[in-house]
Formats: sequence, C-alpha cells, structure tokens
Amino acid sequence: MSPSSVHPSLHTRLCSTFGVRFPVIQTAMGWVATPELVAGTANAGGMGFLACATLRPEEADRAIARTQELTDRPFGVNFLMEQPGAADIVDSIVRRKVRAASYSRSPNKKFIERFKAAGILCVPTVGAPRHAVKAVELGADVIVCQGGEGGGHTGSYPTSLLLPQVVDAVDVPVAAAGGYYDGRGLVAALAFGADGIAMGTRFLLTQESPVPRATLERYFEADVPDIQITTEVDGLPQRVIRNEFVERLESGSAIARLARALQSGLAYRKMSGAGIFELLRSATSMRQNEKLSRTQMLMAANAPIFIKRAMVEGHPADGVLPSGQVAGVIGDLPTCQELVARIVEEAESRLAALTKEGGALASAG
Ligand SMILES: Cc1cc2nc3c(=O)[nH]c(=O)nc-3n(C[C@H](O)[C@H](O)[C@H](O)COP(=O)(O)O)c2cc1C
Repeated sequence: MSPSSVHPSLHTRLCSTFGVRFPVIQTAMGWVATPELVAGTANAGGMGFLACATLRPEEADRAIARTQELTDRPFGVNFLMEQPGAADIVDSIVRRKVRAASYSRSPNKKFIERFKAAGILCVPTVGAPRHAVKAVELGADVIVCQGGEGGGHTGSYPTSLLLPQVVDAVDVPVAAAGGYYDGRGLVAALAFGADGIAMGTRFLLTQESPVPRATLERYFEADVPDIQITTEVDGLPQRVIRNEFVERLESGSAIARLARALQSGLAYRKMSGAGIFELLRSATSMRQNEKLSRTQMLMAANAPIFIKRAMVEGHPADGVLPSGQVAGVIGDLPTCQELVARIVEEAESRLAALTKEGGALASAG
C-alpha cells in the first residue's frame, strides 16, 4: 500500500501530529508494551507507546534506547508521574528526543512544562469529559479517550457516550480507546469525530507481544462477560479477566488483604529498587489523589507485582490479567504489520461502501 493510495479520510490530524502513516495507536501496557511490540507497531505505520510505569529509571532508559535501535519511526513513552524515579524518566524522554509522553493520573505541571519546552507531545488518557478539558488546559496535545470497555484502569462511561462528549469539549486530536480491534471500529470512531483509535488488548494479542503462551490462552478463552471491573487489585476500578486470583482477592478479609499487600510491597521494593521512603511517598501521593484506604494505598504501590506474575512469569491463575472486554471477541495472533494493514484495508472498504451507499441514496433522493 503506497501512501498515496491510502483513503484520504484515514490521513487524520493524529497522523500529522505524530508523523505516522495510519491513525492507529498501540497504547502502553505494563510488562507488555516492550521495545519489540512498540517497534513492531511503529514499523507497521502506527504509533506505539512503551510501558515504563513498571520499570526502574535505568531500565526505562535502556528500553527507550532499545526501541530506537529497532525502529527509526516515532514512538512514545508511558509512565506514572508519581512513580519512584519519575524525574529521571522525564530526563531520558527529553535526552533521547522521544516523540511523545503519555500519562493518566496526577499530572505534574513541571514535567509537562519540560516536555512542552522540548517539543515532546503530551498525550494523557482520560475517562470523563471534564478530565479531557482539564488535561488540555494543562497542555495536552492529543487526548486518548478511554471508555469503560477498555482494559486496565478504566472509567464508567462507555466509549459510545464518552467519545462524542470529549470530541465536542476539546479541539486537540482525540484517539478513541476502549473496545477497538478492527477497521469497522476505526471508521465508527472517525464518524464520531475522533481522529483515530488507540488499542491495548488487541496489541497484547499479537506475535510481538511478550506475554507467555499460557497467559495468552486465558485471554483467548475469556468471553466478554468474564472481563469485569474490580477495585480489589489496587483500590481503583480496573478491568481484568476474572480468574482465581481475583476471586481470592475479593473474598479475602481486610486482614488477609493487608497481609498480602505488605508481602507484595516488599517484593515491589526489591523489583523497583525504590527506598522505603520513596515507596511511601509514591503511595501517599496516589492516596491523596485517589482517596484510597491505607491497605489500598499499599496495594496500589505494588499492584505491578500481581500483574507481573501473570504477564511475565506465565502464571495466569496466580496474578492479575488486565484486559479490555474486546478480548472476548479476539481469537487470533497476527503480527503488528498484519494487524495494522488489515485494519486499514477494512476501514477503506467500509468507507468505500458508505460512500457508494450514500451516493446511491443521494441520487435516489
Ligand atoms: C495488560 C494491560 C496493561 C495496561 N497497563 C497500562 C499502563 O501501564 N499504563 C497505562 O496508561 N495504561 C495501561 N493499560 C490501559 C491501556 O493502555 C489502554 O488504555 C486500554 O487497554 C485500551 O482499551 P482496550 O484494551 O479495549 O484496547 C493497560 C491495559 C492492559 C490490557
């Protein structure tokens, strides 16, 4: 497919803002959006975001460098502005001239100012219309608007109700997220006024995804109703595949939960290299921002450990499986190249069919 042969409706503001061929974003997923996946997306003509919220600053720096070795196309980095070592990750993003930075909770004005001064695009994810307006006031260049169908932390607005309100409320490019997986979804999002789509779960289920086979099988087996919202992982609403681990979390007593939170808190300290004070500062900042209980605050700081068990170590019954509801309708494992090309082709044929039908209707009238 040569650039000139792409349907003009698919060359949106999202493409020109990021400098990519297609209006398709691969969103960040902790432990999943590795340099290989991000470069796979970038080389396929989309915009990938590297997951750094689960990495130490020096690991994040290496992952950015590795991605730059694997692709010369634009990509972005995702991190939590309140995570231990966040300022060092900001340094890496600026020093290595990454195209964009994505974040969601608790934006830090100083970090955003540094990105703006360095020409790095700010791409927050929002789950409610008022958050979109606030994010633009704080400097967002692109908004990812995630409906409740989406995987990981998610809100209660369904995509179909959130998206039109967000596109009406802001004038920066908007990428629709939460439930997208094909070319029909892309055309529908454009019809709503979005500038493209952003997908997590669909990219988790690709050849470049690092997720072990045993865990991928759980995603393929899940039906839409099995993919539910729980607040037991870290106190915030998070959409996951309901499994044995989540059942245990939800049925445990407050004391059992606190014991588990303390236990994995120690494991997280080891993994993140964070000192106890840094860890507490990070957890306290989340607590202030999200009004969490003390147990939830501890769990929030170490939830990555629960996710790692399933997504890296390959124990799907023993950890958290963040997922969009869309996993319930996905049954294949294409390469990023195949996936993006298929979405674009499907979108083009839908657009052609709509134009033809519209033309027929118009001439009949
Ligand atoms: C396994 C997994 C891990 C995720 N981790 C993160 C993360 O680290 N940071 C983040 O901002 N969003 C994270 N998300 C949310 C995704 O970036 C994205 O917004 C969401 O998956 C979109 O909905 P979809 O799954 O229906 O495509 C995660 C989602 C999944 C499925």
